[in-house]
Amino acid sequence: MTGCIVNYKIVKTNDELADYSCSIIVDKINSLNKEKIHIALSGGNTPKPILQKLSLTRDIDWGRLNFYQVDERCVPPDNDESNYKMIKEALLNNIGLPEENFHRMKGEDDPFIETERYGDLIINNSIVFDIALLGIGTDGHTASIFPSQFFIYKYKDVTALSTLPGSKQKRITLTEEVINISEQKIFLVSGTDKSEVLRKIFNKEDDDLPAGRIKGNVFWILDSDAAVKIK
Ligand code: 6PG
Repeated sequence: MTGCIVNYKIVKTNDELADYSCSIIVDKINSLNKEKIHIALSGGNTPKPILQKLSLTRDIDWGRLNFYQVDERCVPPDNDESNYKMIKEALLNNIGLPEENFHRMKGEDDPFIETERYGDLIINNSIVFDIALLGIGTDGHTASIFPSQFFIYKYKDVTALSTLPGSKQKRITLTEEVINISEQKIFLVSGTDKSEVLRKIFNKEDDDLPAGRIKGNVFWILDSDAAVKIK
């Protein structure tokens, strides 16, 4: 990981990962003396228990928060593959967030048009994310930025259209550039299947791994299974 401080915390279990991650996120939110806070949420499975726990937190002024998506599969919002569906069920359904405070990537729309629309949303409102919650795939991807993959389409270095290797599922994603200028990046990583890619990243063995190219104020929260190969 070039250019970043390797800051990480290992917790024992997946439950502790949810508890600890939630406490870190809440502390970060409450430390920000800002009217509007911008938070980018990843999809996948790892964030679900953390978002569920976050939704039970009482000492957050939800009205200050604006949520965005790190990436989205090009499927309708009610599809089980949809990251929005996961975020809605785990978080949005349980908190009184004003509708206009969640900025959904519209997976059901034309991928090229939506990639540009979402990029313009970020550019036109000069959004810099205060917190970006990230995951990592076993191949080292983060967001929907996959190793040695050229984007189908990249829009102003802010958003891009990629394809999931294998299934070729189209995905809309924030770019590395936009993630890197976020103030606080928090990786949430659970499970032994991530241990090898974490070892490669922490040992700086492969600069092509997108998760390893995220720099600046990066904090990794790992459960002991994921961290088993980290000395
Ligand atoms: C997605 C995510 C993706 C995810 C990793 C890890 O759309 O799937 O944004 O980048 O964070 O694939 O996924 P898990 O948390 O399910 O392991």
